[in-house]
Amino acid sequence: MTNHGGRFGGSWTKAKLDILEGYLDAYTTALKNQPFRLWYIDAFAGSGSVQLRKPDDGADAFLDGSVRRALEVSNPPFDRLVFIEKDRNRCAALDSLRTEYVSRDIRVQNDEANAYLQGLKPPGNVRGVLFLDPFATQVSMKTLRHIATLNCFDTWILFPVSAVARMLPKSRQPDDVSSSWARRLNHVYGDDSWRSLYRPAAQRNLWQLAETTREPGLAELAAIYRERLSEAFGPRLLEGSAELRNSRDSVLFELIFCVGNPAGIGTAKTIAAYLLNKI
Ligand SMILES: C[S@@+](CC[C@H](N)C(=O)[O-])C[C@H]1O[C@@H](n2cnc3c(N)ncnc32)[C@H](O)[C@@H]1O
Repeated sequence: MTNHGGRFGGSWTKAKLDILEGYLDAYTTALKNQPFRLWYIDAFAGSGSVQLRKPDDGADAFLDGSVRRALEVSNPPFDRLVFIEKDRNRCAALDSLRTEYVSRDIRVQNDEANAYLQGLKPPGNVRGVLFLDPFATQVSMKTLRHIATLNCFDTWILFPVSAVARMLPKSRQPDDVSSSWARRLNHVYGDDSWRSLYRPAAQRNLWQLAETTREPGLAELAAIYRERLSEAFGPRLLEGSAELRNSRDSVLFELIFCVGNPAGIGTAKTIAAYLLNKI
């Protein structure tokens, strides 16, 4: 395997990629005899490989990234693989994969993921899997709402718990969020419902029923996000999800799954839940 320069993560990286790989294999097999064109869309594609530092001796280690894992799916393969990547050098690395995977229909898009996905209108016979693996807060709820209306892409989303938590003010007052960070949070959540994290909560103490401002927990950041997803995907949002933690046991991302086509809810959720439970 060749490295093309991405240095993206730790052991949680392997966990998310193993889940994706398991899902992609099961997905094309399950739809093998259906009259659909199967697409894989990787909206934050990277370069094909992931470079990690081994915790024991600090040496570099390499992993097949999401793109290579999707290209390796073979029973049957995807009919089309769309790799969206903003970085030109990584796009060049993705382009070079054509020589290794000559039989695959590979489309490399040097584009901004949200812009590309919001313009996506696949033909009616397309079904597929969309992987949203950003560094941080790049994925907008507007994009996810559009994907939900297409009814054809099973979608894996990494919700950036720690990046969102870092944007919230230490003062615990929503008005202290800078206007640029408020815009960013609105982009992620699709509205300003993240402000409800600071909603005063009634708490009883010995003497009175007082209103106090709560300190938001990380679970609430994701819970409000899931409420927005549930408005877009309805029962297609999988109830369970998985926390991806770094070596210091801090939550970095929450891995969330939504089904594309309502007809596939049962099978898709069963497979996704099985894979998430293995973490
Ligand atoms: C976490 S890495 C993806 C790793 C990849 N899934 C893998 O397994 O190899 C995120 C990638 O998204 C790209 N990126 C960042 N912002 C982007 C955007 N707005 N649109 C498209 N690509 C973006 C980065 O250049 C980077 O390659």
